[in-house]
Amino acid sequence: MENFVFYNPTKLVFGKNTVEKIGEYLKKDKVKRVLLLAGGGSIKKNGVYEKVVRSLMENSIEKIEVWGVRPNPVLSKVYEAIEVAKKEKVEAILAVGGGSVIDSAKAVAAGVLYEGDVWDFYLGRSNPKKALPLYAILTLSATGTEMNGNTVVTKEETLEKFAFGSIHVYPKLSIVDPEVQYTLPSNQTVNGAVDAISHVMEYYFDGTKRTDLIDRVDEGIISTLIETTEALLNDPKDYDARANFALATTLALNGVSGMGHRGGDWSSHAIEHALSALNPDVAHGAGLAVVFPAWMKYVYRKDPSKFRRFGRVIFRLKHSTPEKAIEALKKWYKKIGAPITLKELGFKREDIDELTEIAAKTAPMGKLVILEKEDIRKILEIAYEE
Ligand code: NZQ
Ligand code: ZN
Repeated sequence: MENFVFYNPTKLVFGKNTVEKIGEYLKKDKVKRVLLLAGGGSIKKNGVYEKVVRSLMENSIEKIEVWGVRPNPVLSKVYEAIEVAKKEKVEAILAVGGGSVIDSAKAVAAGVLYEGDVWDFYLGRSNPKKALPLYAILTLSATGTEMNGNTVVTKEETLEKFAFGSIHVYPKLSIVDPEVQYTLPSNQTVNGAVDAISHVMEYYFDGTKRTDLIDRVDEGIISTLIETTEALLNDPKDYDARANFALATTLALNGVSGMGHRGGDWSSHAIEHALSALNPDVAHGAGLAVVFPAWMKYVYRKDPSKFRRFGRVIFRLKHSTPEKAIEALKKWYKKIGAPITLKELGFKREDIDELTEIAAKTAPMGKLVILEKEDIRKILEIAYEE
């Protein structure tokens, strides 16, 4: 187990009827004027927007709205929101939506107080020194962004889907009300499950030895996600399944699942980001369902006992082997309706060259195995068809 520092400044407000508390929390923090950032309109359909507006009004908080953050969010929308936030002199950002909205809000919160181009942070040319306070109302459990300092945004012109992490962009407060997720289409629940499972696996398979406790925590998170996903596909309004699913996704990427690890592998994430950068209709979770098992096949020889354990504990395989464990994961992805090949995502074999080029922008990558460009190509080839 490695040394670590755990610090997570986000106040997590979790449970039923919590969305309507946002105004009180802002008032307590003496915030009077916010930029409300939202996506394509799901929050108007499911009543979340109405609750937020009422709560802000009751607490005399002014809001300026920016809509239109799309899934796999883009830099141009971030720029637009930064301009509005500056012009309107808002004191805080209020993100209401899924990971794309909250990730964009993090960029806005840091970008407003930065003289240069906010893209500098994503390029690693600069680090935020400060940010406006960010408040989040999560409507889609998947990314863990509600309780971490990461943001992922795509620059459309260059097809770069890059991330940065900073202590300054952790939400000050996040509201997770599982009931607002009853309206999620089942494929979004599936994408969320695959994303969160992948977050845990990035740490679990990073090659750190003797992370005994956190291995069990990680296995608990993954098993919970598997059980609750199946329950939710059966009944999307099963409150306890939603709540346990939501908590599992938060713990998957708020620092807990990686305690004592060497930072996680993150190659599968980096390769997936190339897929959703090249085709923005590819949801992050769907891309991971394809890439992660292919990565596993390519690298498992480096730590076979961990892959064997994964099959034994998660899928209860009596005679587990790494190959059987990977097949069991793919079989489960198939069962819940996740894609497992690049082909199913609509990519052609010819696209592998371009995907390799895009993903290799961040190479060398990885911890368990350090991947160079040619390794990435081989993983994409494995991912192409079953
Ligand atoms: O835009 P609206 O109309 O709100 O609809 C959204 C969107 O179309 C819809 N939705 C959200 N809540 C809903 C709902 N529909 C019905 N009922 C609700 N309650 O769902 C669609 C997808 O939303 P999006 O925010 O894109 O999904 P997700 O939360 O999965 O976020 C994905 C993004 O996060 C990044 C991904 O790369 C991707 O860009 N990630 C962020 C991470 C982080 N910050 O730590 C880590 C992850 O690994 C990931 O890379
Ligand atoms: Zn992810």
